[in-house]
Amino acid sequence: MGFSTDAIHAGVHPDPTTGSVMTPIYQTSTYVYESPGRHRGYDYARTVNPTRSALEENLKVLEGGRAAYAFASGMAAISAVMTLLKSGDHVVVSRNVYGGTYRLFARVLEDYGLTFSYVDTSSIETVEAALRKNTRMVYVETPTNPIMILTDIGAVAALCRSKNLISVVDNTFLTPCLQRPLDLGAEIVVHSTTKYLNGHSDSVGGAVILARDDHAERVKFVQNSVGAILSPFDSWLVLRGIKTLPLRMRAHDENGAQVARFLEGHPKVERVLYPGLPAHPQRELALRQTRGSGGMISFYLKTAEAAECFFRPLKLCALAESLGGIETLICQPSTMTHASVPEQERRAMGLTDSLVRVSVGCEDLQDILADLERGLAAA
Ligand SMILES: Cc1ncc(COP(=O)(O)O)c(C=O)c1O
Repeated sequence: MGFSTDAIHAGVHPDPTTGSVMTPIYQTSTYVYESPGRHRGYDYARTVNPTRSALEENLKVLEGGRAAYAFASGMAAISAVMTLLKSGDHVVVSRNVYGGTYRLFARVLEDYGLTFSYVDTSSIETVEAALRKNTRMVYVETPTNPIMILTDIGAVAALCRSKNLISVVDNTFLTPCLQRPLDLGAEIVVHSTTKYLNGHSDSVGGAVILARDDHAERVKFVQNSVGAILSPFDSWLVLRGIKTLPLRMRAHDENGAQVARFLEGHPKVERVLYPGLPAHPQRELALRQTRGSGGMISFYLKTAEAAECFFRPLKLCALAESLGGIETLICQPSTMTHASVPEQERRAMGLTDSLVRVSVGCEDLQDILADLERGLAAA
């Protein structure tokens, strides 16, 4: 089926008891057995829940994987993937990954004997040079949050295959609507479903989609063993959100492109980071591996003071962490989403106080532009 058809229908079947067209929220912790040791495939709701299973089937189809598992947050999903590794293993990571991912790696997992190298994964030579004897995984975010650097997924995946390494792509920013890493050869996709997949800023969740049965089996085992599952209600919300994903992503992409052009031409703006602009240094790669650049834009104002003044008069754009909602959200990554990254590392990534990140929503374009103009006039 086409992507929009799959977004609406994959994993969704009329409820066998009532014929309900929409997947019910199976708000139960347990299921009745027919006799000791005999049940209908459902024993306990941490292990399996029909609402969650419907979402997992849907995500599996949209990303083109062999299996998908839904978690209580994006971080829980990423943590589950990291359990494919063992103490002593080394991971090569995109340099400016989401701050929470960096915090998990640097301040939790290093205590369990994993080591990480943060490198510019936009250069395949740099990725290759960072590999060590004990490297087991390459973990990529593309585009990166918030500097919007792209990584050539196909090139990284091919390198990983040739060295027997696990390739992981965080596809939160573009979603399978605009980028399908498994089609490009990656082995695992992770998502914060909190963002575009749910799309309405009213649920926190995560997902792992896998191309290999052995990885899938382990992640499923870990999902049940650790228990950081997505609740039935959140599963239902994400499943509902995904039905409009293609429509929303089209609107995010159209508004994103217009907002990026507006910012690029504005005298108060120093530089715009958006792969959809011809000036983006990786525009050719963007055209090759994505079907649009979506709604995430970062831009530099001239000074940190200008940024401070910029946020004050905004009325429509909500000053908030998170992204990917139907409404426009705006933030200062250095003090908000990426505050957990040490200052020195932030500077090395270009994550200064004059950097602003916008998650362009689906409101009327002229209203978004008018609000940004208000902020820029004050900057
Ligand atoms: C790219 C990316 N990956 C993962 C996460 C973590 O997801 P969650 O907040 O749902 O745990 C985020 C959160 O902002 C993110 O932006």
